[in-house]
Parts: sequence; C-alpha cells; structure tokens
Amino acid sequence: MAKILLTGGAGYIGSHTYLALVEAGFEVVIFDNFSNAKQDVPARLQDITGGLVHVFEGDVLNPEDMRAVFDAHDFEGVVHFAAKKAVGESVEKPLDYMHTNVGGLLTLLAEMDRADVRRIVFSSSATVYGDTDIQPIPEDHGRTHTSPYAFTKIAGEQILEQLDDRWAVGILRYFNPVGAHRSAMIGEDPADIPNNLVPYIAKVATGELDQLSVFGDDYDTPDGTGVRDYIHVEDLAEGHVLSIKTLIDTGDSHTVNLGTGDGSSVLDVVHAYSKACGADLDYQIAPRRDGDVAVLTARPDRAKALLGFEAKRTLADMCRSSWAWVSGQRRNDKG
Ligand code: WQD
Repeated sequence: MAKILLTGGAGYIGSHTYLALVEAGFEVVIFDNFSNAKQDVPARLQDITGGLVHVFEGDVLNPEDMRAVFDAHDFEGVVHFAAKKAVGESVEKPLDYMHTNVGGLLTLLAEMDRADVRRIVFSSSATVYGDTDIQPIPEDHGRTHTSPYAFTKIAGEQILEQLDDRWAVGILRYFNPVGAHRSAMIGEDPADIPNNLVPYIAKVATGELDQLSVFGDDYDTPDGTGVRDYIHVEDLAEGHVLSIKTLIDTGDSHTVNLGTGDGSSVLDVVHAYSKACGADLDYQIAPRRDGDVAVLTARPDRAKALLGFEAKRTLADMCRSSWAWVSGQRRNDKG
C-alpha cells in the first residue's frame, strides 16, 4: 500500500484529504505542528475510519523533524498543506508568511531530495491570479500577487517549476473551499472570528455571532454582491487523491484549478445557508472590503482532462454539510 506524508494533515483541508486518501487505499502519516489545528482532530479521524491514525507532531521548518519522519517511513509522495493561509494576517506579518510558507517548502524539498522522495502535491490558490476581469480563469492566466500570502503561493509554484525531471509536481489552485465531511465529525473550525464568508455565516446560524456584514452590494454582478467559485471540501480532497495518483501512475506534473466553474454571490450563499439551517440569517450591507474583487471563478476543464476531476457537490450540499458540522459541535459544547 503506497504511503503518503500529509503535512498540515490535521488542518481543515488536510484532515478531509486524509479521509479521502485512506478511502482510496493509501497509508497516510499526518505531520503537523498543530499551530492551526485542534489536538482532537486525529482522534476524530480515527473514529471515522476505525483505523489507527499515524501522527508525527513536528514543524516543516525544523530540518530535524523532517529528517526524523523521512527516516521512519518510506513515502511514495507528499501532499503539502502545512502553511499559513490568512490573506489579511499576511499583510500584517509578511516575514512570518514568507518564512513559514516559502522556508517551510524549501526545508521539506531538501529532505525529500535527500530521501529520494520526489512526488509532491502543492496546495496553491486562485489568489495567484490577482485581480482580473478574465472570468472564468484559465490556468495559463498570468500570476500577480495582491498580498504577501499570494506572493508565497506564487513563489512556491515557481520554486517547484525549477525542479528537474526526476520530480513529479501537482500544483492545485483552490478557489473557495467550504463545507464539512459527510460524517459531520470534522469541518472548518476557526479559532476566532472568521474572515471567510461561510464560517462566518455558520456562526450567525448557531447564534455565536449576531449579524453578517455583506461587504458591498455595488459590484457589477447580478445582485451586486461578490461572486466566488465555492467548492465542497470533500470534492477538493478527492482532487488531491487524483493528483497524487497521477504523479505516482504517470509521473506527469500538472498545474490545475480546483473549482466548479460556477459562481455564487454572497446573497446566494446566505439564502442557501438559510435553507440548510431552517432559519433566516440576519445581515446588513456594509462597505466593500479592501482587496476584494467582484468575481473569481475557475476554468475547471484542465483538471478534468488531466486528472479526471470534476466537482460533484452543490452549494446546497456545502451549506447542509457545514450546518450539520457546526450544529453538532454546538450540541457537543452544550453537552
Ligand atoms: C468570499 C466573499 C467577500 C466575509 C479568501 C482568500 C483566498 C482563499 C479563500 C486561501 C467575498 C464576502 C466575506 C464576510 C462578506 N484562501 N464576504 N462578508 O476573499 O474570496 O478568498 O479565502 O487560499 O486566498 O482570499 O473568500 O470567504 O473571505 O469572501 O460579504 O464576513 O464573501 O467580500 O465576496 P475570498 P471570503
């Protein structure tokens, strides 16, 4: 059974990818420093899979930790999530972001090279496209950073593009991952007030937050609010499985968008979430948020052609799964 190293595997997308990899028959080792993941995630994964979850608590920035995990296991490849991912925070702490996201990748690659493990799936982002009117966005669109976070993703992609033919690289550009696992036992679990739309709406739905601020209703979109390409986190996880499988089976590197190709406005999401939770959600129209663009949607056809990937789940599925997760959490907290 092929063994995969999953850095950041206790995080939101990492934990869902763990389940998808195990379901696809891979053996997986989670490598995480738990700086942005709850300590109980591996136990939850164990409850879901019924199998032992291998966790190596370590930091991708620490060469000794990296050496130890590669000395302990023979990996077929690596799926690399471990990075900081908040755009706003990256503006306040650019050096932190470059150190962790770029330094961490370089430390990982050095150890992979030493261990002769040269297949890597890299977690990138639609943010590499910058602000563009070309929608839906194709992968051959130019890259330009609008934040230090975006810079670190472009830098990561360009580092990987320098590697020689012994390497096989999958670069996956996420659009807007949302939702939770069908078991409702894992999901997005932000530590403080969320920056992103769906986790914020989820906290309004549970009553933890009073009201959603809709950042602008004067964009050139059907209802004036921002349009994004929301993709279910389980679809996204399955995209990672197809990517690592492609690297193992063919050795062919690829750079693909992971999105649905469909756009949903902020108010579309509010209405879908209201249906999912069975209640109206209070919101107010607020000024636009700095750095936001009107529309961001993916050209999804290259992922289909190269990986056989196609997002299957709908916005309703995303909201229903998110509500099942957060409402279950609330019951447990009250429990
Ligand atoms: C979505 C829409 C907001 C919150 C970000 C990162 C991106 C990626 C995904 C890492 C926009 C509106 C939001 C709120 C609102 N992360 N909104 N009220 O900004 O598209 O993408 O997360 O890779 O890099 O930039 O996602 O969920 O923050 O916003 O009206 O309280 O919801 O204006 O139109 P975004 P988002």
